[in-house]
Amino acid sequence: MLHERIPNLAKFVEPDRVRREAYTDAAVFEMEMERIHERVWIYCGHETQVPKAGDYCTTQIGRQPMLMVRDKDGKVNVLYNRCPHRGSMMCGDRSGNAGEFFRCSYHAWTFHHDGTLKNIPMMESGYAGTRWSRDNPDCNMKRAARVENYRGFVFASLAADGPGLLEFLGPSKVAFDDICDRSPEGKVEIVPNCFRVIQHSNWKIFLENQLDALHPSVTHQSTGRAAREVELQIEKRTGKIPLSYHMLSAFSTVTIEKWDNFQTLNYPFGHCILTGYMGLRPKDPDTLEYERVLAKAYGEKRKEEILTTNIHHVLIYPGLSVQSPLQQLRAVRPLGVDKTLTEIWHFRLKGAPEPIYRRALAYYNLVNSPATLINADDLENFWKAHQGLSSEGGDWVSFHRHYGRDIEKDGMVETSAGCGTSEAPMRNQMKAWTQYMTAEK
Ligand code: FES
Ligand SMILES: [Fe+2]
Repeated sequence: MLHERIPNLAKFVEPDRVRREAYTDAAVFEMEMERIHERVWIYCGHETQVPKAGDYCTTQIGRQPMLMVRDKDGKVNVLYNRCPHRGSMMCGDRSGNAGEFFRCSYHAWTFHHDGTLKNIPMMESGYAGTRWSRDNPDCNMKRAARVENYRGFVFASLAADGPGLLEFLGPSKVAFDDICDRSPEGKVEIVPNCFRVIQHSNWKIFLENQLDALHPSVTHQSTGRAAREVELQIEKRTGKIPLSYHMLSAFSTVTIEKWDNFQTLNYPFGHCILTGYMGLRPKDPDTLEYERVLAKAYGEKRKEEILTTNIHHVLIYPGLSVQSPLQQLRAVRPLGVDKTLTEIWHFRLKGAPEPIYRRALAYYNLVNSPATLINADDLENFWKAHQGLSSEGGDWVSFHRHYGRDIEKDGMVETSAGCGTSEAPMRNQMKAWTQYMTAEK
């Protein structure tokens, strides 16, 4: 039907601008779920969310309610959260332990942790002579077509075909390497709850904002300025500036000109890396102790490589935004054309001293949580953007900034020197969007 109304969906996207309907048309949203989110690799969760057999947590891929569950052999399965009998959701909680097996609360059908049917009460008397027999695969809970794990981060794809996870991630896998390598044990553990924020705007508006280096010194200026004032008072009193205040005051001291010194590296499938060193190596005793522990684990040379990784942010299209130097990520779960859930998670570096975790926690609370003004600043923009795009005040969204100055090489696009605030990441995302949306099935 949409094809009749919009015979050429690709016309929504030009290299430097996008039609507003791509953000506001409910039929386009349905098609995005079918052709993008319910086909590509979507982050489900971290394996430490389900440490023991029977542990599960619920999640969402596109429009589908899903379960991530560990079985008795230690394997993590991803299943549709749906009972094959009359379709009831198997688990209503966000997480828990299913015990030896899943038991549907409606009519007590039971299932193993890999989704296969265990038992139907009084199956012989109730189903003899029907086509509903134990060997009918429809009796099992349906599994995600593909599940893969990279360094503990579990992804699933609902399509049987397509690139494998590592091919899909390409260079953006550095997000998980950077998170894990900062642990002396090479591993992280999830902090077992997240902030959940519902935004009244299209999911693409959130993703476009994540690597929008143009907005922080405008949108977050007032928050940064207030933190800077307090920071200066503290410095006057104590002679020191706490790192946590610096996390906020940087929004006023890092100007647009400085952001232009950053760079974005844009890859196939819409992924993007924003470079920019986050200055997490002050000379305080806690940081020095952490560096000593890392050097002991990896040697001096490797420690330097790990700590000088030049990453600010990694965007894994279409569902994940990762701030690896501070072990946090935001998972995007679209709920409707104008409604998007983000889950904001953070991780603990295994084997690292506690103050290093406290630093990540401070950033999580001060910059990424719903309690901070930074988040409120962004949410207001997202809502206003969606409202404006829903109007007839114009047809196009402009992504012209530094257009024509991108450097294309080896299948990727780099922004030129001094063009860190380029809209290249948005152009790259919409290029991937067009490829997914117009692909032959
Ligand atoms: S709906 Fe699950 S047992 Fe009936
Ligand atoms: Fe922002």
